[in-house]
Amino acid sequence: MAETTTPPPGTSDAVDWESLRQRAVELMERAYAPYSRFRVGVAGLVDDGRVVAGCNVENAAYGVALCAECGMVSDLHASGGGRLTAVFCVGGDGQALMPCGRCRQLLWENGGPQCLLMTPQGVLPMSAVLPQAFGAEDLRHAEG
Ligand code: THU
Repeated sequence: MAETTTPPPGTSDAVDWESLRQRAVELMERAYAPYSRFRVGVAGLVDDGRVVAGCNVENAAYGVALCAECGMVSDLHASGGGRLTAVFCVGGDGQALMPCGRCRQLLWENGGPQCLLMTPQGVLPMSAVLPQAFGAEDLRHAEG
C-alpha cells in the first residue's frame, strides 16, 4: 500500500495558503477605509475546515476603527465558533501584512500558540509572533 504523504493538520504544508490569501484579498477589496485609505483583509482557517474572514471598517471618530481581524473573529463566533488554525492578513497590495499588537492578542485568544500566521518572513506560529503572551492561563494562575 502506498504511504500517505498528506501532512498532519496544523502543519504549514496542510494549509492552502494561496486560497486563504485570495479570500483575504476579496475582503480587503470590501474594506471601509475612507480615512486612512489603508485597506486590510484577513482570512482564517478554522479547525473544522471553515474559512472566516474580515476587513477593516473605519469611523469618522478615528479611534473606534475596527481592524480586519476584529471582523474575522466576529465571523468565527457568529458562524459557529471553533479555533483558528491558520491566518493570512493582507494589505492593499495583496501581500502578507503583520497584524497589529491588539490583533495578535485576538489571534492568540482564538487560535493559541500553534495557530499559524503568514508573515512577510514566511509562516510562523503565534508563539513566535506574540512571545510571552498574556492569555486565559494567566488569569487562572494570578488569581488571589
Ligand atoms: N488595520 C487592520 O485592519 N489590521 C491590522 O492588524 C493593522 C491595522 C487597519 C486599521 C486602520 O483601519 C488601518 O489599518 C490603518 O491603521
